[in-house]
Amino acid sequence: MTSRLALPRPDDLHAHLRRGPAMPAYARREEASFGRALVMPNTLPPIASAPALEAYRREIAAAAPGLEPLMAFKLVPGMGREAVLGCAAAGAVAGKYYPAGSTTNAADGPRCPEEVAGELDAMEEAGLVLSIHPEDPAAPVLEREAAFLPTVELILGRWPRLRVVLEHLSTRAALDYLLAGPPRLGASLTAHHLVSSLDELLGEALDPHLFCKPVLKPAADRDALRDAAFRGAAPGRLFFGSDSAPHPRQAKEGRRAASGVYAAPSALCALAGLFEEAGALGALGAFVAGSGAAFYGLPPPSGSLELAREEWTVPEELDGSVPFLAGRRLPWRLASRR
Ligand code: DOR
Ligand code: ZN
Repeated sequence: MTSRLALPRPDDLHAHLRRGPAMPAYARREEASFGRALVMPNTLPPIASAPALEAYRREIAAAAPGLEPLMAFKLVPGMGREAVLGCAAAGAVAGKYYPAGSTTNAADGPRCPEEVAGELDAMEEAGLVLSIHPEDPAAPVLEREAAFLPTVELILGRWPRLRVVLEHLSTRAALDYLLAGPPRLGASLTAHHLVSSLDELLGEALDPHLFCKPVLKPAADRDALRDAAFRGAAPGRLFFGSDSAPHPRQAKEGRRAASGVYAAPSALCALAGLFEEAGALGALGAFVAGSGAAFYGLPPPSGSLELAREEWTVPEELDGSVPFLAGRRLPWRLASRR
């Protein structure tokens, strides 16, 4: 008999579904694994007003009725406190801080917190979560995350009631900062930063489909992240967010590869294999379905998802993009959801 693993229906607290013709397929792929997804706002054009947020939510709901989108807006200097309060009234759960130039579609982000001080005041007032891409693009690429931590410290000091999430942790330095932080500081971890390392990105042959921001780090950093996930460190503060960030295959294989890993199709199955190998399967449920909801103050996940212990090969291409671990055999596959 095939063994099965039943999980509460997982939440993805960081996903890019994009806009335009590819969005429905990305949204349905997300729906296959997750009950709720915190949808990132770095679309073209960005989600930075209540009408844009509402329209985007409707588009996602129409494409994937079984997925509950949790909406976020992008902090853009000059957007103003009224726009922030409008997004809150429209049901946003988070505002996203992309330091200018830090990643895909981030040229219009703040250069320093001061540039969005009024907006952060409004977020604090409205009880919104500040979700941060914590990298300083002026630092050398492998040092960008650590170089941004002083800015996080400044934000926590100046806005003492703001809840803050450091997205997609990639280094031991940022993990240590999180672990030493207050209850209102949380962080997300991706499957690719847990499963893979810098050597898989460029040690043997350059794999553009593993290229993302923050860039995958050496194994020592990855192992520190794994250890924290396996032992359920910082419950209610450290949780899964896939950072699934699909780009069309041509955009990843051209002369300049876009950054982003299309993680949604394989992230959960890859995590199940990783946790199982470490004898930590018991910690997977809280990591993907519980800890994040607790941090965001959401109801616990409703419904369930079953994985079956049955090998499958991740397809070479899905939805016009190359998924995480394409061509690799994984021991667990998605079985059924309720
Ligand atoms: O690699 C990345 N891609 N990192 C991000 O933070 C954004 C994402 C995207 O939108 O493509
Ligand atoms: Zn992202």
